[in-house]
Amino acid sequence: MKVAFAKPGLPGTGITVVGALQGAKLLPSAEKLDKKTDGAIMRAIRASRFKGEKNQSLNVMGPAGTRIDRIMIVGLGKPGDLNDLALQKLGGQIQSSTRRAKRGTVAVAVDPIKDAKPDAATMAAEMAYGAMLASYRFDKYRTKEKETTKPSLKTITFHVGNFTAARKTYRGLGKILDGVFFTRDLVSEPANMLYPDSLAKQAKSLEKLGVKVEVMGEARLRSLGAGALLAVGQGSARESKMVVMRWMGAPRGGAKSKAKGKSKGKAAAPIAFIGKGVTFDSGGISIKPSAGMEDMKWDMGGAGVVIGLIKALAGRKAKVDVIGVVGLVENMPSGTAQRPGDVVTSMSGQTIEVANTDAEGRLVLGDLLWYCKERFKPKMMINLATLTGAIIVALGNEQAGLFSNNDKLAQYITEAGKKVGEPVWRMPLGDAYDKMINSDIADIKNVGGRGGGSITAAQFLKRFVDKTPWAHIDIAGVTWSKRDTPTVPKGGTGFGVRLLDRLVADRYES
Ligand code: BES
Ligand code: MN
Ligand code: ZN
Repeated sequence: MKVAFAKPGLPGTGITVVGALQGAKLLPSAEKLDKKTDGAIMRAIRASRFKGEKNQSLNVMGPAGTRIDRIMIVGLGKPGDLNDLALQKLGGQIQSSTRRAKRGTVAVAVDPIKDAKPDAATMAAEMAYGAMLASYRFDKYRTKEKETTKPSLKTITFHVGNFTAARKTYRGLGKILDGVFFTRDLVSEPANMLYPDSLAKQAKSLEKLGVKVEVMGEARLRSLGAGALLAVGQGSARESKMVVMRWMGAPRGGAKSKAKGKSKGKAAAPIAFIGKGVTFDSGGISIKPSAGMEDMKWDMGGAGVVIGLIKALAGRKAKVDVIGVVGLVENMPSGTAQRPGDVVTSMSGQTIEVANTDAEGRLVLGDLLWYCKERFKPKMMINLATLTGAIIVALGNEQAGLFSNNDKLAQYITEAGKKVGEPVWRMPLGDAYDKMINSDIADIKNVGGRGGGSITAAQFLKRFVDKTPWAHIDIAGVTWSKRDTPTVPKGGTGFGVRLLDRLVADRYES
């Protein structure tokens, strides 16, 4: 599906969408259409419970005297409540209720609204973005789907006064969309198709956007001393990989450097995003129960978000230096797999007792965080991981868990999450929790006690970050969705891409 922008004026055929405010107050385009149809819209409203509230809609089928197939009246609620998120939702709702329309086109009238913060062009662009987010489908492996169940909608056209401004705003949003879709694609792929090497190749594809991508295999990881990461992958037939992506978009040179374009100028420290990329988590020798194990194909969700985020940032040429680091491994049981009780030496030199081979994500992230901090000395680092089932017990599938050693950073992330509809909830850290991962035989144990499983996992990571401002987002509950919401169809959600893109835009771009 695609979206388009055009000048005001609805076509006289097909499906047309018009709006009404709270109190069933028709917007000008709706009024015009009501007149043209001899009051068919108002008649339908009076015969229904439609009051123009948010999430309400009403359909008038084939009004007499016109060649229109269907008029859809959507509720916009109160003008003061109209913001980016509400408009994206509305766009998503329009998409999902027209996606099976026989004719492949839908026209939406976007009128300026007095007392609404966004202007009409912004409203059109945000609705288009929401409609696109809702249109996502992962159907590449379905070869026998009937034509009748496939979406037939091809284009939604938004008719708006300043359509060139809408088109321009949408162009930026479309880059974020590209990142979200890339993440959703990666998360949806099964583990026989997406494994460390093939996922690394997907990351490599960002080179065409100007991203520098380095892929390191096991030999290189061994010489770096990544003993914890390597231990997780040692039972797998697939080679473990680490991928470093660099988008250097911060303005360079400037007034002080005379040799314009040649002198690079002194670059400030970059920001860094780190992702858990366990392409399949069987649990290893501490094997998981078979019920639901298929979900562990998306245990690379953190890496998927980092790769999608870099795609979004590079796509929209963000003015910031960003590092992305992902650790790609497959956690399998076999004769070469690590055993419960093994002691491994991490890149930091700290030794780890692997009490449970299913607590593998923290082993991977410990080495990644250490490597990232030592090599790039970032201004801050944020890691994402489908790290613990315990975060689902705590927060369900509604919010991600946030852990941080820095209150400002935690605040910035929380605010960005609210703005884009990807909420995070801050969880505690503390010495008492840290003690729970002391080992009798090594420096650290990879599991804590019975309670506070997400917190002890976060404490484990914290031992690899020193003083660097750092945040860990546990996305185990939000990476995959079992139900549709207006802008996130069930399946891989891409949760985190929009949040971090917004964080970068609001706080780190120059
Ligand atoms: N990948 C899992 C966490 C997970 C569980 C993600 C459910 C998504 C949905 C992680 O590697 C894991 O197995 N964690 C264990 C830790 C335990 C062994 C301390 C868990 O949460 O049970
Ligand atoms: Mn596990
Ligand atoms: Zn895992």
